[in-house]
Amino acid sequence: MKEELQKIQQEGLEALQQVSTLKDLESLRIDFFGRKGKLTDVMKGMGNLSQDERPIIGKLANDVRTVLTDAFDTTKHTLEQKQQEQQLMAEAIDVTLPGRKPAYGKAHPVMQTLDRIESIFNQMGFQAVTGPEIETDHYNFDALNTPSDHPARDLHDTFYLTDGNLLRTHTSPVQIRVMEKQTPPIRIIVPGKAYRVDYDVSHTPMFHQVEGLLVDKHVTFSELKGVLVSFAKQMFGDQTQMRFRPHFFPFTEPSAEADISCTVCQGKGCRSCGHTGWIEILGAGAVDPEVFRAVNYDPEEVTGFAFGMGVERIANLQFRIPDIRTFYENDLRFLRQF
Ligand code: PHE
Repeated sequence: MKEELQKIQQEGLEALQQVSTLKDLESLRIDFFGRKGKLTDVMKGMGNLSQDERPIIGKLANDVRTVLTDAFDTTKHTLEQKQQEQQLMAEAIDVTLPGRKPAYGKAHPVMQTLDRIESIFNQMGFQAVTGPEIETDHYNFDALNTPSDHPARDLHDTFYLTDGNLLRTHTSPVQIRVMEKQTPPIRIIVPGKAYRVDYDVSHTPMFHQVEGLLVDKHVTFSELKGVLVSFAKQMFGDQTQMRFRPHFFPFTEPSAEADISCTVCQGKGCRSCGHTGWIEILGAGAVDPEVFRAVNYDPEEVTGFAFGMGVERIANLQFRIPDIRTFYENDLRFLRQF
């Protein structure tokens, strides 16, 4: 029995040398001290010993147990320390590494142009308001003096929704919405999206407009011209010329289209302006009395003017893009150039 105990001690100490994880250490502990462990087995055999032998072997057994327990504890401590060190290494943060640069975006070129247009009109006292992009026939057409049998409706290739509503074909319905709620004087611009069934190098199905509306007593057409010429010079430069051509809109009378002198050739004539020297940028006119009647304004009392311009067209004059559809392809290589 004495030899057996010494053998167990020897085996235990050797086994501990080999252990490299806490998990292995635990299974080794069970091997020796567990209920069916090697040392436990020997202890159980003590009962069969003689009176003389029992204290001697008993003491030896206790000694062996103490030696092994100490050795286990030491190994455990070493392994725990090793594990903690490894964890700290794995979690180490190098505070000297340079930080990661956050990616930042910037305004889309069309938004840059829109902001510029807005700020010019803001300075002339026009306040920006918005309205819904899903509209009714009433606001998009009827109230703007464009009843369903009116030929001008054909000019707008309208997206109709299944519920009978439509995507507004211009920002003009907001004129009606504002006049319904407010009394003159009114001086607003309406930046926003409009939609038409249209798709080529100069048209996208969704595009932006800036509407303008001024209503007051004794508003004249020359004031309309003054506002628009001032806008054109601020937007495109002091040398910019503007001309008005007679036109037709159901909701203005008289109506005009306004051109600016070509920003590429300064009016001499080039490919950009189709060799005319002029580029059309907006529609405008004096508010039609029928429109005032639709919102219960007295056309004998008030007069006004309205205008509407395409933002992509103007952005294109600033940035000179051969195909405006590229504005909406979301290609970062394109967008990063602005
Ligand atoms: N709504 C017109 C269009 O989209 C532009 C316009 C607005 C014309 C206001 C006159 C007055 O073509």
